[in-house]
Amino acid sequence: MNLKQEVNRRRTFAIISHPDAGKTTLTENLLHMSGAIHMAGQVKARGERRRARSDWMKIEQERGISVTSAAMTFTYKDSMLNLLDTPGHEDFSEDTYRTLTAADAAIMVIDVAKGIEAQTRKLLEVCRLRDIPIITFINKIDREGLDPFGLMDEIADSLALDVTPMTWPIGMGNRLQGIYNFAKDEMTPIDRTDFSFSENVPASEMENLVEQETLEQAEFELELVRDACKEFNMQSFREGHLTPVYFGSALKQIGVTDLLDALEQLSPSPQPRPTNKREVIANEDKVNAFVFKVQANMDANHRDRVAFIRMVSGKFKRGMKLKLSTGKTISVQNPILFFAQDRELVNEAYAGDIIGIPNHGTIRVGDTLNEGEDIKFIGLPNFAPEILERIRPTDPMKAKHLKKALESLSEEGVIQLFAPQIGAHLTVGVVGRLQIEVLAQRIQDEYKIDAKFEASPFTTAKWIESDDEKTLEKFMSENRLNMANDRDGSNVFLGKSPWEMGYVEEKWPDIKFSAIKERH
Ligand code: G4P
Repeated sequence: MNLKQEVNRRRTFAIISHPDAGKTTLTENLLHMSGAIHMAGQVKARGERRRARSDWMKIEQERGISVTSAAMTFTYKDSMLNLLDTPGHEDFSEDTYRTLTAADAAIMVIDVAKGIEAQTRKLLEVCRLRDIPIITFINKIDREGLDPFGLMDEIADSLALDVTPMTWPIGMGNRLQGIYNFAKDEMTPIDRTDFSFSENVPASEMENLVEQETLEQAEFELELVRDACKEFNMQSFREGHLTPVYFGSALKQIGVTDLLDALEQLSPSPQPRPTNKREVIANEDKVNAFVFKVQANMDANHRDRVAFIRMVSGKFKRGMKLKLSTGKTISVQNPILFFAQDRELVNEAYAGDIIGIPNHGTIRVGDTLNEGEDIKFIGLPNFAPEILERIRPTDPMKAKHLKKALESLSEEGVIQLFAPQIGAHLTVGVVGRLQIEVLAQRIQDEYKIDAKFEASPFTTAKWIESDDEKTLEKFMSENRLNMANDRDGSNVFLGKSPWEMGYVEEKWPDIKFSAIKERH
C-alpha cells in the first residue's frame, strides 16, 4: 500500500462520556466486535497485567485506576482504528482535554436514562473548539430510559448541534425488540428475554417480529423521525455541525457494529493541523508530528518517560532522526505502538497513528517533531484549572528546589504553575483532584522534597489580554492581589469564586478573559 492508501484507511478517534455512561464497556466491545480481543473483560484485565509487570505509580496500584491515558490501535475491515483513551473518572485532568487535540473524531456516549451530563458537556466544548465530528451513541437501551425524542432535543439544544438519528430503538428496556436502521431500511431483531440479536432483516418483516403495541408505537416514531429530523449530511457532520445518532447497548453488544461501520464510513481520515507557518496535510511525504501527552514513571527505577505523539503527516520508519522544537535531534530507535493486548515496537507508522517514544525528559508536551522544517504545531492549549492549591516545602531551605521541580513538572504538563505578582506563594492549578496526588507523589519520589499543600484563597483562573495597554495596566494595578504569571510569563487573573470572576469580567469589558490558552 502506498502512503495515500495507508493514510486514507486510518481513523483516529476518542470516546467521551460522563463517568458510568459505559465508555469502558463500549471500548471493550468495540475491540471485541472488531476481533481485536476475544473476550469482553480484557480492557480492565490488561490494566491488571500491565501493573503487575512494571512498577507503576503507587497511587495507581492503590486505587486500581489508570493515571495515564494512551492509545490503542486495532483494525476493522480495511481500516486501522486508533482509539485515544480519555480518562474520565477521578483521573480526569488536563491530559484528558489535550488528548482530544490528537483526535479527528469523537464518539459521545450518553446514558439513555440520564441524557447529557456535566463531564460530557465539558469535553464536548473542547471538541467544538476544533469542530471535530461527533458520533453519538445512546447507550443502555436494554434498560428503560428517557424518551428518545426528548434526548434528540436535549442534544440539539444544549450542544447546538443538528441531530440525525441513524438508527432507532424498537421498544426499550424489557420491551426492546429491535433496532431500525434508516439508511438500510432494515431491522436488527432482538430477543427480549436475553437481548441476543440476529442478522438484519428487511423492514417489511418487522410486522411479523414485533409485538403489535410496540410496532404501532415504533411506526409512529419512525415516521416522525423521517418528517422532523434533518437528513444526514456528510459535510455538515465533517464540519462538526451535525451529529449522527446511534442507539444501542454496549453491555449487550447491541448497535456496536453500527458504530464501527460509522467510524469506518463516516469519520474522516487523518486531518490537517495548523502550524505557525502553514497547514500540514496528512499525505505529505515528510514526517510531522506533535506530542500531546508525556507519561512518566512507567518504571520508577528508571526516570523514563514515554512521549505520545500524534503523526500528522508522512511515513515514519524506525530509527529515523527527528528534530524537536527545541532544535535537538533524536534518533527514534524504539517507538512503541499500543494494541489492545500488547505493546510492540513499530517499524513503520503513518499519519493518524499514535506512537510512544521512550525518553529521559527530552521530549515535552506540545513539542513538534519533524524531519527538519522550521515549523511548530499550534493550538495545543492549556485549560483554566478547576482546582488551585498553594504549595510550600516543609523545609524552607528547599524552596528553590521545589520551584525547579514544579517548573519541570509544569513543562511536562502534569500541572500548571502560577507565581503571584505579589508575594511568594506558588500556586498549582489542576483540572482534576488526582493530579494533585500525582504531583505530591512525584515531588517526593523523584525530587525527594516534602511539600505541603494548602488551600488557596482562589478557586478559578483565567488568562487575560487586552488590545489596550493602558487598560491592561490599570486592571493589573487595581487587581494586584489577584494577579499571577504562568510559566511562560503570561498574565493570569485568579478569582476567589466563579461569581467574582463573572463580576470582574463584566466590569472590565475591554479585557479579554480566556479559559483556554493556546500555546504558540
Ligand atoms: P464508564 O467507563 O463510562 O465509567 O462506564 P462503564 O463501562 O464502567 O459502565 C458503568 C456501568 O454501566 C457498569 O455497571 C456497566 O456494566 C454498565 N453498563 C455499561 N453499558 C451498559 C449497557 O449497555 N446496559 C446496561 N444495562 N448497563 C451497562 P457497574 O455495575 O457499575 O459495573 P460492573 O460491575 O458491571 O462492571
